Amino acid sequence: MSHSAAKNQLTCSVDDYQLFKKFLSDASGIELGDGKEYLVTSRLGGLLRQCGLENMRALLSELSSGRNLRLRASVVDAMTTNETFWFRDAPHFRLLASKIFPETDSQRLRIWSAACSSGQEPYSISMQAYDYRLRNPGKLSNVEIVSTDISASILSEARKGVYSGLAASRGLNDEQRQRYFTAHADGYEVKQEIKNKIRFQEFNLTRDFASLGYFDIIFCRNVLIYFPAAVKNDIIQRMSKALRPGGYLFLGSTESMPINLDVFKMVTEQGGIIYQLKK
Ligand SMILES: C[S@@+](CC[C@H](N)C(=O)[O-])C[C@H]1O[C@@H](n2cnc3c(N)ncnc32)[C@H](O)[C@@H]1O
Repeated sequence: MSHSAAKNQLTCSVDDYQLFKKFLSDASGIELGDGKEYLVTSRLGGLLRQCGLENMRALLSELSSGRNLRLRASVVDAMTTNETFWFRDAPHFRLLASKIFPETDSQRLRIWSAACSSGQEPYSISMQAYDYRLRNPGKLSNVEIVSTDISASILSEARKGVYSGLAASRGLNDEQRQRYFTAHADGYEVKQEIKNKIRFQEFNLTRDFASLGYFDIIFCRNVLIYFPAAVKNDIIQRMSKALRPGGYLFLGSTESMPINLDVFKMVTEQGGIIYQLKK
């Protein structure tokens, strides 16, 4: 490494790391473990340079002043992990098609994708509903998928619904790409009929859910892992109140119900596990 590159390398002292951990936890609920200084410096280096901030201390002082809401959002953005792909956890989508849609297809169905990242999760749900409507004309005509994430930048990607060839290949085969997308200069664009069912909105899961209304189904997958136990438990507890009686909660396939909430019944079918709010 050259002398100047070494000089420009962002570093994070033990004290600054503790302050940063506190900032991130207050702003997003995300808990950084010990010894993750490298994660902070590698994710924030570019942003600091862009904002003309010399080091972590300057960033922390700007954040604590409360003056710069845009910087605050950009820092949270940079610290989120947005990994996702199409039809992730396939058994969940089989359960939607074979169990949940047939149970509810005559009613209005409200679904919440609670940490939707770049959109693959809510679009996959909408694609599954699209197929169901094709197989069952006149059914499932009133579906609304509210898709939220804390990251404004990832939501603007999700809203576009345009994916590169590589992104559109993760979890989809050629036949599905043909069925669900139209050609676009930058790759593939999700068909309008699939997009129409989705409303994207910036939303922090640590905030009150009341403004979102009630749901028949909540997908809260691969996000609780970033939160400490108390935050996880609180979110699940509040989700149980945002679900209609008999509604379903989907967690990531490697996640389990963090608390022993007896308001939920575990449903194991199609190789997947979901949680049904007791009626
Ligand atoms: C790994 S992705 C999961 C995407 C999708 N649910 C899936 O399973 O493929 C986690 C997402 O959670 C979002 N996230 C992190 N903290 C959040 C919070 N406090 N409120 C809402 N979204 C949050 C991140 O921005 C990121 O897009």
